[in-house]
Amino acid sequence: MNIIGNNIILLDQIDSTNNYAMQQSTEQELIDGTVFLADDQTAGRGQGTNFWESEPKANLTFSVVIYPRFLEIMDQFMISKIVTLGLVQWLDLSLQNVTIKWPNDIYVGQKKIAGILIENSLAGATLNKSVIGIGFNVNQTLFKSKAPNPISLKMLTQKSWDRHEVLKAICLHMDQWYSKLREGQIEEINKAFENRMMGINQWATFCAEEEVFEAKVSGVNEIGQLVLELNDGSVLAFHNKEVQYVIGSLKV
Ligand code: BTN
Repeated sequence: MNIIGNNIILLDQIDSTNNYAMQQSTEQELIDGTVFLADDQTAGRGQGTNFWESEPKANLTFSVVIYPRFLEIMDQFMISKIVTLGLVQWLDLSLQNVTIKWPNDIYVGQKKIAGILIENSLAGATLNKSVIGIGFNVNQTLFKSKAPNPISLKMLTQKSWDRHEVLKAICLHMDQWYSKLREGQIEEINKAFENRMMGINQWATFCAEEEVFEAKVSGVNEIGQLVLELNDGSVLAFHNKEVQYVIGSLKV
């Protein structure tokens, strides 16, 4: 049975679909997998204090509410894995060089096409609810904000896309990975995620605590930290925001 996307709620204009989804799901238990899609997001939130730029009606800005109550708190990074894998799998149908830049950005080559903001609430030792906010650049071709390296599907394919069709297709792909998670196919998910990580098993440049260094991406550990191998053979693990990829002159 499909969960993600089986109930899609359209919003003309809202501050942030994550805020709205959080508020709605606090007031009542929603249908598992409900999607809130906004035509226009006036205060879209990115990671940290960043603003998420999206031209009205051009892109997909949506939040999915799921209730993964089977998932232990220490395994919550699995949500990032299934969401990013769903997106990547769909993008693979039309594009090459699609990767997951840890922890959960979607890149095509050196440019960012989608960003994800996951907000979990917990109940005891497990998750209660996950609000998964996805900003996916579909038809926008001019970006005005300070975002360092945005790109859209239209810029890459030279054609416009039907946002609602794209949303439905992405939901199906995410749902396939979510059902693997529910069925406990952890090894398959972990392997697929690591295979798609930007820089996996390759030397790349990173920056942590102002220091720039070369390292090889080994993968992620069981709590979702980025694991890097240095050239002396030592291994370091980083939480989100503790390390940045250096791509050309950008630290992202
Ligand atoms: C990032 O890469 O910084 C994360 C961006 C997440 C943006 C999406 S758009 C839909 C949802 N609502 C929000 O306010 N943010 C997320």
